[in-house]
Amino acid sequence: MEKFNKFCQRCGMQLKNDPQGSGSNADGTKNLQYCSRCYLGGEFLTKEEGKNRYNIALEFRSQLSGVVIDVGCGSAPFKNLAFLQKKSIKEAYAIDSNKTVIRYLKKYYPHPKIHYLALSVEELPEIAKKFDYIFCYFSLEHFKDPVGGLENICKCLKKRGKLLLAEGFWGKENSASVFVNKKRQNQNKQKRIIKELLYTIKKQLPRISEKDALKVLKGYVEHSKKILSKHEVLKLLKKSGFKLLKECTEQQEWFAVFLKK
Ligand SMILES: C[S@@+](CC[C@H](N)C(=O)[O-])C[C@H]1O[C@@H](n2cnc3c(N)ncnc32)[C@H](O)[C@@H]1O
Ligand SMILES: [Zn+2]
Repeated sequence: MEKFNKFCQRCGMQLKNDPQGSGSNADGTKNLQYCSRCYLGGEFLTKEEGKNRYNIALEFRSQLSGVVIDVGCGSAPFKNLAFLQKKSIKEAYAIDSNKTVIRYLKKYYPHPKIHYLALSVEELPEIAKKFDYIFCYFSLEHFKDPVGGLENICKCLKKRGKLLLAEGFWGKENSASVFVNKKRQNQNKQKRIIKELLYTIKKQLPRISEKDALKVLKGYVEHSKKILSKHEVLKLLKKSGFKLLKECTEQQEWFAVFLKK
């Protein structure tokens, strides 16, 4: 039995003042050492300034239950797979149009509850499932047809289901515009971003060959011809019956949680 601490061992808040009673472990059970503002789903919420957006993703991950999917998962499905321990998780899907990344995920991150599929968002209805939670993390800006992709996401979410959308395309200076605008001054920035992305891919997929890492990288640097504005995304989701629950824009990245009414 875990010792019951009256005060959160990280921030000192009295747990009786915690609206959720306590924090939670990766398997969804209560954690009586920490409060829900410090520790959720087995992860510490970050206190660094400007990291509220990551806390939105972490909170979303701690809520996952039922049938869940990461669309455009890349080399980091759901960013962390600890939530698979939860009893309330029936099935998880991680899809990406990049066959190479899916091959490596199957090899290095197998789990009986997760299906890795080399499938594009355009083919999402082929899974013939409705999802309780959809995780779409920095992939919308890469879809060939972002409007069609977003429409498929809307269709495949259950009523009362939730969608997490993380995008980094707002403002003038951001990763997408650096790649989309072929300006000279963007070339050095492109090189720096490519180096960082390649480093991350290699870290997340141990023992990936250089050739395959470059194939995975291709999916990370190819951007949609049409980049949707935040206004267009909000309009489309509103039209499809979605309500914006939470949003945060920091360092040119927008994180938003939607509920399908
Ligand atoms: C920038 S990466 C993001 C990866 C991961 N979600 C993350 O945040 O680390 C974009 C991913 O979207 C994938 N992608 C691009 N177009 C896609 C499509 N039409 N359907 C599904 N995935 C797609 C790419 O292969 C790439 O892995
Ligand atoms: Zn706390």
